[in-house]
Amino acid sequence: MDEVKKGLEGVVVDESRVCMVDGDEGKIWYAGYDMDDLARESSYEELLFLLWNDRLPTADELDEIRTEVQERRALPEGVAELVDREADRTGPMDLLRTSVSALASYDDEPNDLDDPADKCLGVIAKMPTIIARAHRVRQGKVPIEPRDDLGHAANFLYMLNDEEPSEQEASAMDSTFILYAEHGMNASTFSACVTASTLANVYSSLTSAVGTLQGPLHGGATETVIDMLEEVGDASNAESYVEEKVSNKEKLPGFGHRVYNTVDPRCAHFKRHIESINPDAELLAVADAVRDEVEARLGDKGIWPNTDLYSGTLYRELGVPAPFYTTLFAASRAAGWSAHIAEQLEDNRIMRPRVKFVGETGREYVPVDER
Ligand code: CMC
Repeated sequence: MDEVKKGLEGVVVDESRVCMVDGDEGKIWYAGYDMDDLARESSYEELLFLLWNDRLPTADELDEIRTEVQERRALPEGVAELVDREADRTGPMDLLRTSVSALASYDDEPNDLDDPADKCLGVIAKMPTIIARAHRVRQGKVPIEPRDDLGHAANFLYMLNDEEPSEQEASAMDSTFILYAEHGMNASTFSACVTASTLANVYSSLTSAVGTLQGPLHGGATETVIDMLEEVGDASNAESYVEEKVSNKEKLPGFGHRVYNTVDPRCAHFKRHIESINPDAELLAVADAVRDEVEARLGDKGIWPNTDLYSGTLYRELGVPAPFYTTLFAASRAAGWSAHIAEQLEDNRIMRPRVKFVGETGREYVPVDER
């Protein structure tokens, strides 16, 4: 009864139809569809429909959700002002979290839980606008307003770089949104579900999730990986770098996972896109060399590359600066968060685990002036 499951390892909190992660085979199934197929063939908008409705949309339904996302991209003036005021001194993830929270102020009925996916769609549509705007302000550049004739990914790159992306760039960006969209009961999704289980509104649930994703053990690893690759500098340094880290028992970002006993299947897609955009990408060879060294030393211990090993290198090739990598992970994962929030609310019971108390009881209170 009182067995402690540190990190909730192995604890099954609920049933879900959203995603299955097969850590032994290295496969991800989004609502029963192979992630490999979706990463190649689908779009983020289609994935939103799939995760929310447990089926693929018809052509009309896909048009409808695309239009809906396009129409809800613009930021309320108050949120745009918040981003403009804070972007210089606030870290991108802190600013994204605060902005997602602030969107509740511009919803006439923030506490309405009748259609949580629809409320989340309003936030998901705006997250790239917040991110691109924050980047532009930090650069001292004029923010670019969203367009209503571009897909979710292409519009993000357009707002970021003030230039319409090539088809290849837009497709690679779309693929990153799909790859990070969902991954079962990970820490940030759990956090969203815990908040949703109290019947708090979706702005609170999404804000909890963004905050939870920030840490370097979770989404923040997209950024710490790049720090590591830059420190290694050249593929020829990988051996000594990894040797030192392993002998000091330090953890290497971009490796290890609670669920996988093999390579994370998303790595191949990130790598495929980097190679197609720039086969000579500076950090690709470094990442490969670090991967080989880690696999040689820690593979038998079950330490394999995770998705974050290559994602930052692709973001960099697409013109996204490193401090914004985790925000893009958040903008993508909001699909999964929203699907799990909706599922939680369909058959809700408040999350309330226990903790094994190991402190003292019966201690006598002594007033401060007698201590
Ligand atoms: N490098 C070296 N050793 C590692 C690593 C690593 N990246 N990850 C785990 N280990 C070792 C760890 O030291 C421990 O060894 P020992 O049993 O000798 O003490 C053993 O493997 C188990 O590690 P753990 O930390 O108990 O495993 P966990 O399931 O609690 O943590 C993890 C999973 C992803 C937090 C962890 O592997 C890690 O810290 N990785 C680096 C950060 C990272 O890349 N995070 C992104 C995860 S994937 C995307 C996402 O979900 O956000």
